[in-house]
Amino acid sequence: MLKPIFLTGVIAMLLCGFAALSMAEEKGNPRKGKYLFRSNCRTCHQDSGTAPYLGPDSKTVSQWQKAFEKKQYSEFKCKAEWEKRSAEELLDIFTYLHKYAADSPSPAKCQ
Ligand code: HEC
Repeated sequence: MLKPIFLTGVIAMLLCGFAALSMAEEKGNPRKGKYLFRSNCRTCHQDSGTAPYLGPDSKTVSQWQKAFEKKQYSEFKCKAEWEKRSAEELLDIFTYLHKYAADSPSPAKCQ
């Protein structure tokens, strides 16, 4: 009688473990993010563009988190540009910007 219940428990625990593992690995690709940022955002956000220069070092880690994860971008003038990108693309862009943020171990400009 107890056996099937025990087995179900073990299977449930295994499934949860795998789900947690795949969540932890679900990070964007910073190289793709850089490419996407340069081709979709930098067109405006550079010295000669229509918007001020913007690169990873323009903001701190927590400011980037606010912009992306808390969806602060819905207040930005270029909200429509963000909405054109898929969730996966935004995750890649976020990973790139956040990795080289002003207060990260390796701050970088977008060249
Ligand atoms: C069509 C031109 C254009 C494109 C493309 C564009 N933006 Fe913008 N963005 C703007 C303008 C204009 C503002 C408002 C700037 C201001 O008044 O300070 C802005 C504001 C912002 C801000 C807020 C500025 C700040 O200092 O807090 C961020 C962050 C931002 N954009 C990121 C992005 C990202 C990421 C992308 C690519 C997904 C992108 N932008 C694409 C024109 C653009």
